Amino acid sequence: MSKSNMYKIAVIPGDGTGPEVVAEGLKVMEAASKKFNFKYETREFDFSGKRFLKTGNLVSDKDVDELKKYHAIYLGAVGDPNVKPGIIETGVLLKLRFALDQYINLRPVKLYSSNYCPLKDKNPEDIDFVVVRENSEGLYKGMGEFKDKGTKNEVAIQISYNTRAGVERCIRYAFEFSRKRNKKKTLTLCGKTNVLTYAWDLWQRTFDEVAKEYPDIKTDYAHVDATTMWFVKNPEWFDVIVTDNMFGDIITDLGAMIQGGMGIAAGGNINPQGVSMFEPIGGSAPKYTGKNVINPLAAICAAGMLLENIGEAKAARCIEDAVIKIVQTKLTSLAAGKMGYSTSEVGDLVVRNL
Ligand code: IPM
Ligand code: MN
Repeated sequence: MSKSNMYKIAVIPGDGTGPEVVAEGLKVMEAASKKFNFKYETREFDFSGKRFLKTGNLVSDKDVDELKKYHAIYLGAVGDPNVKPGIIETGVLLKLRFALDQYINLRPVKLYSSNYCPLKDKNPEDIDFVVVRENSEGLYKGMGEFKDKGTKNEVAIQISYNTRAGVERCIRYAFEFSRKRNKKKTLTLCGKTNVLTYAWDLWQRTFDEVAKEYPDIKTDYAHVDATTMWFVKNPEWFDVIVTDNMFGDIITDLGAMIQGGMGIAAGGNINPQGVSMFEPIGGSAPKYTGKNVINPLAAICAAGMLLENIGEAKAARCIEDAVIKIVQTKLTSLAAGKMGYSTSEVGDLVVRNL
């Protein structure tokens, strides 16, 4: 997205600890805007489990049209323990991802300090890769059916839906990203070609074809089960990984753990031609809500990714550097309640170190 004089940012604080961490991200964004001289305005949208319980409303097509007027969306977390699983997820988060065609879920896995890595003898130089997760198809498409529901003969079918165009645009994005990232210039396809012989045949063929256009990028393949093994054993092998929606969901939770936990893991739902949405990848953490103990760094890093996306790369870089500095020199843990500081104090620390 090109530079603008006045960015418009939609903010969805959501449920649980979402509003607390979003407040810290906005605090940091505000400080960064002064330092780097850019202007923005925000508008809050109250899509959430809370609102659904009160009004029955999720995200409507009209809401989506409204959001299209913004340069980016900043999301805290949605989900309420009093709502049956699946309703808020599909009605808010997945609705936004799909309706805004945010077909990439970009999840950097980067260790900022060896102190917070659960793996023995792994250091920041060993854990620094990015997962490009397809974000609009696969098992998330919601296709399937029950047969003879509730009987002994019941069959439940859930379809993994993969289109050539959908797979290709994701793979192409991953190649472009590997080139731009300019580190090991290695792109690994993570799949399951040995068992899922329709879906992964398409992925593999598309990957091989697109690879021909990127002779400067080394390519590799790993089955998804082996990928989880390598994340623990040899994370230093990875640079950029491209995978489908379901596998990407699973491996990025493991990725979050080896980078120090949900408190630090951020991601972006990206439509390269449209409106993207940035979020901490952890959930709404109901048990920590309102206690000022949750780690806001994932949300602060998501704010950094948002700024990079709208064209403020310097501010983004500076936010990440400040986060690295306080993680290395101030915090006693990245876990909620154990940081040595409250949620708002961590936000203040980042601001002071910009
Ligand atoms: C994530 C989450 C979501 C997903 C859920 C909340 C629908 O786990 O962003 O990884 O499965 O994509
Ligand atoms: Mn997930």
